[in-house]
Amino acid sequence: MQTVSNSIIVEKVKHSKIDKVDFNNLSFGKYFTDHMMVCDFKNGAWEVPRIVPYQPISLDPSAKIFHYGQSVFEGMKAYKDKDQNVWLFRPLENQKRINISSKRLAMPEFPEDYFMDGLKALLKLDQKWIPTAEGSSLYIRPFVFASGCGFHASPSDEYKFIIACSPSASYFAGKVKVLIEEKYSRSANGGVGFAKAGGNYAGQFYPTQLAVEKGYNQVIWTDDNNHEYIEEAGAMNIFVRINDTLITSPTSDRILDGITRKSIIDIAKDENIAVEVRKITVKEVVEASENGSLKEMFGAGTAAVISPIATFGYQGRDYDLPEIKNSYASTLKKRITDIQYNKAEDKFGWRYQV
Ligand code: PLP
Ligand code: COI
Repeated sequence: MQTVSNSIIVEKVKHSKIDKVDFNNLSFGKYFTDHMMVCDFKNGAWEVPRIVPYQPISLDPSAKIFHYGQSVFEGMKAYKDKDQNVWLFRPLENQKRINISSKRLAMPEFPEDYFMDGLKALLKLDQKWIPTAEGSSLYIRPFVFASGCGFHASPSDEYKFIIACSPSASYFAGKVKVLIEEKYSRSANGGVGFAKAGGNYAGQFYPTQLAVEKGYNQVIWTDDNNHEYIEEAGAMNIFVRINDTLITSPTSDRILDGITRKSIIDIAKDENIAVEVRKITVKEVVEASENGSLKEMFGAGTAAVISPIATFGYQGRDYDLPEIKNSYASTLKKRITDIQYNKAEDKFGWRYQV
C-alpha cells in the first residue's frame, strides 16, 4: 500500500496481465486494465478514493442497484500521441454530466477533485494499456451505483463510484444500418432520457434486439408522442445532412447532451458548414432520401466517434445513403480525432494532458 500526494490510496497489482491481451485484435470493451478506481459513499460522505487491482465486487443481494436500478455511468477515452503523451477530451464535461445524471436518480454527486485526481492517477498507473493502433484508444467507464441494502423502494444510503478502463477498437465493425423506431420509446418528457442511467440502456435492449434480428445495428429513437421526430440512436446522437446543411435535434429531457455532438457542432461551424439545431421529422428525411437531397446521416458519440450511416430502415423499407467523396462525416471525424490524438492545433482548448 502506498499513498500518492493527492491522498488517493494506491494498491498496485503484483503482476500485470497486459501480456495476455492481443492488442492487434481488440474489440470494444472486452479487456480490462490492471487497476480500477473505487470510492465508497458511507455515512453521508464520499471516502478517500482507492486505486486497487481490477477485481470483482461483492454486494449484498438486497443492494438497491439490483432492485431499483439506481445506477449511472459515463463514457470517455484516453488517447496516446506519437510521443507517448496521454490525453483526455473535455473530461470536465463528463465529470459534470455524471453528476447531472446522479442528481436525477437521487444519488449523491461526486466531487470534481476526486474524479479528476483519481482518473489521472489511474491512467498514469495503467498508461501502458492505452493502445496506439489507428482508431483505438483506452475506453474509460466511470460509474456509480447503489450498494446500500434493503427492499424498501427508496434511495440507497450507500454508493460505489468506480472507474474501469478497457483498451478498445472501434465500436462499430462495418457499415452502420439503423432502424427508425415506430413503436417503442427510449424516453419521455419528464423522464430520465437526458441522464446516462443504466436503465435507459436496459429499456433499449429489447427493441434493439428486434432490429438486430432484422439486420440493423441500432435503433434511431423517435419522440414518444407520435414517433414523428428523429431524436438520437442507442449509443450516439444523430446528424443529418440535407443538401449542404447539417442538422441535429436539440437536446431535451429525452435526449443525451452528447459531448461529441456539441463538439461537432462547433467544428462544423468553424468549417463554415451551415448547421441547424432543430427538430427533424422522419417525413423530411424519407422525402429527402427519395428526392436525392439527403446526402449523409451519421452518429456521433464517444464510443462511436463519428459513424456514417449507410442505410436506414423505415416502415419496412430500406433507404440507402449515397457514397460521397469529401463527406462532412470524414472532414469532421478527422478534425475531432486530430484534436483528440494531439495531431493538430486545439483552438477550442478541449484537449487535456494527463
Ligand atoms: N446518446 C446516447 C444514448 C449515448 O449513450 C451516447 C454515448 O455516450 C451519446 C448519445 C453520445 O454522447 P457522448 O458524445 O457524450 O459520448
Ligand atoms: C459512449 O459512447 O461512451 C457510450 O456510453 C455508449 C455506450 C452505450 C457504449
